Amino acid sequence: MQLKNDLLLRAAKGEKTERTPVWLMRQAGRILPEYRAVRESVSGFIELAQTPELAAEVTIQPVDLLGVDAAIIFSDILVIPEAMGLPYEMVEKRGPWFPKTVQSETDLKKLRIADGEDDLSYVIDAIKITKKALNGRVPLIGFAGAPWTIFAYMIEGSGSKTFSKARAMLYTQPDFSHKLLQMITDSTINYLKAQIKAGADLIQLFDSWAGILPPDQYEEFSLRYISKICDAITEVPKTVFAKGAFFAREDMAKLKCQTIGLDWNMGIAESRKMIGNGKTLQGNLDPAALYGSPKQVEAATRNMMEQFRGSRHIANLGHGVYPDINPEMVKIFIETVKNFK
Ligand code: CP3
Repeated sequence: MQLKNDLLLRAAKGEKTERTPVWLMRQAGRILPEYRAVRESVSGFIELAQTPELAAEVTIQPVDLLGVDAAIIFSDILVIPEAMGLPYEMVEKRGPWFPKTVQSETDLKKLRIADGEDDLSYVIDAIKITKKALNGRVPLIGFAGAPWTIFAYMIEGSGSKTFSKARAMLYTQPDFSHKLLQMITDSTINYLKAQIKAGADLIQLFDSWAGILPPDQYEEFSLRYISKICDAITEVPKTVFAKGAFFAREDMAKLKCQTIGLDWNMGIAESRKMIGNGKTLQGNLDPAALYGSPKQVEAATRNMMEQFRGSRHIANLGHGVYPDINPEMVKIFIETVKNFK
């Protein structure tokens, strides 16, 4: 299927584009009343994510309602632990929770390496339905969590300010940690390959908890595994978004990926200098900038665009859009990028 709008893919590959493509992390769900209506028709997030027709519907909503240049498949990074044998629940207003966690080699023996097609067939079916319904309007982004971030949830069992249990594990049981990280990596490669086979045009790795590790541990317990995934996935362009990993930008320039996501703490000119011209940069407006007035949102967006001017860029926020942001402000962000000259 020929894409009618392939700006995202061309920008990722460093090809010339008429304008900068724009999409938002966490654009599916969260902010749209139309999403909440679909969400309320089922028992909760997990049922929605596991019903391919509905997952496809909410994936396409931001394309129709906001005018973004890409869709991102509606799912979650935590489907990987579940496919490995560690199910999660999504607790209303509190977030993910794992009834069982992984603490020892004995727990590890109960886990398996996930097979993308079989264990995650509901995501694969949602991708197929979405691709058909999009009919080439925009590319579809597939995604997974980076192994370190998934490891952090599997050890901790829920979100946490410090993830101290997960971080303790790197000191007390480094060999066990590497074994689990490798199992997550193998599962993720299987899963991403299946997403691509089903039609994902680009894939993004979310390392949401990158910023809580010291640089040497980040290299050993996170980047090493991200690098294995980038080496294994050769079919489509890849984006690596490592929230808070300002200290790893020079190393990230060496990854076999086309795009590096910047969070809003990372200076644009400084990041370009550290990463060089060989990669596209994605980001990085402060998500809180969208709480401003329409004029302020426009000015903040133009200021960001000015700093990226003339270099390989995909416009986005510096992290996921916050749930209480007014969709009208998101539209101003998107329109300002589209009209920027
Ligand atoms: O980008 C998209 O819109 C596609 C869908 C998507 C979801 N989660 C849906 C979701 C994506 C890409 C994710 C990624 C994800 N999930 C990350 C990495 C990105 C980031 O924000 O750092 C992380 C850390 C998670 C784990 C997770 N899932 C948490 C902590 C929570 C609870 C709080 C929250 O972020 O909303 C979720 C739940 C979740 N994932 C929801 C959605 C739409 C809300 C659930 C609901 O509708 O009740």
